[in-house]
Amino acid sequence: MTAPTSAGTATTDAAAPPLVHVEDLVVVLGHGRSARTVLDHVDLTVARGAAHGLVGESGSGKSTLAKALVGVHRPASGQIRLGGIPLPHRGLRGRRPDGLPRVQLVPQDPWSSLDPRRTVAETIAEALDPRRARVAPARGRIRTLLEQVRLDPDAADRYPHQFSGGQRQRIAVARALAADPDLLVADEITSALDLTTQAGILDLLADLRARLGLTMLFISHDLAVVREVSDEVTVLLHGRVVEQGPTEDVFARPSADYTRRLLAADPGAPGFTLDGAG
Ligand SMILES: Nc1ncnc2c1ncn2[C@@H]1O[C@H](COP(=O)(O)OP(=O)(O)OP(=O)(O)O)[C@@H](O)[C@H]1O
Ligand SMILES: [Mg+2]
Repeated sequence: MTAPTSAGTATTDAAAPPLVHVEDLVVVLGHGRSARTVLDHVDLTVARGAAHGLVGESGSGKSTLAKALVGVHRPASGQIRLGGIPLPHRGLRGRRPDGLPRVQLVPQDPWSSLDPRRTVAETIAEALDPRRARVAPARGRIRTLLEQVRLDPDAADRYPHQFSGGQRQRIAVARALAADPDLLVADEITSALDLTTQAGILDLLADLRARLGLTMLFISHDLAVVREVSDEVTVLLHGRVVEQGPTEDVFARPSADYTRRLLAADPGAPGFTLDGAG
């Protein structure tokens, strides 16, 4: 993890490789006749310390890209480099290459991502030490992590269903932070929340980014949210990048027809979504 002094700003060291460098990535999902090219020659660069927004309608491949970054989906072709180091093609189950930056994904569905039979402390203990997963020696660190996501540290022995939707997302963020990530990939983590709860989570992410020097890939349908949190943005359409650049440039001077149509539909309106559902 970078030092807090570089917090909140993308590093300008031109010699350092970007934290994320996705080059000509093709991901094919399904088998045989149902095989589909879900990511079609995607390029993406995220500098250390930057916040990058990923938008696109449902099915455009956003979650697939997120999973490719954590090694769940393998490239059919192309390459993913993290801090200049190629992500192993067989995923991350084997030995981690030395110096490979850590990526943590806060997944789209908190119900499937948190085990309902485990307390918050047990969930975080497992993230801290997957082999032993013992709560007692990790109490101090669990408290700190819960405080970092602004949850009551005394609630560590409760179960996920005893928390609100927004609190569950904070638990999912705390679990991701337990692995000391360089890059946090947040996949639609505010989509199911009301506007006030959503604002609290966005504020938390900005704070974590500044304090911990985290790099963020922020995935959302919601253009207003992406505009608020991202320095740069990538627009996906049917698995292809149709627009990429500094957020303000893309919003002010969209080059792709698709992006222009999105913005023309309702530029910057709070809660406006690509599917028109919000
Ligand atoms: N395991 C799979 N096998 C075959 N196709 C898949 C598989 N997983 C996802 N897909 C397809 O890949 C496409 C992209 O899915 P993905 O989940 O990445 O989209 P998304 O942009 O995250 O959408 P949403 O906004 O709804 O979350 C979809 O058409 C989906 O049906
Ligand atoms: Mg998705």
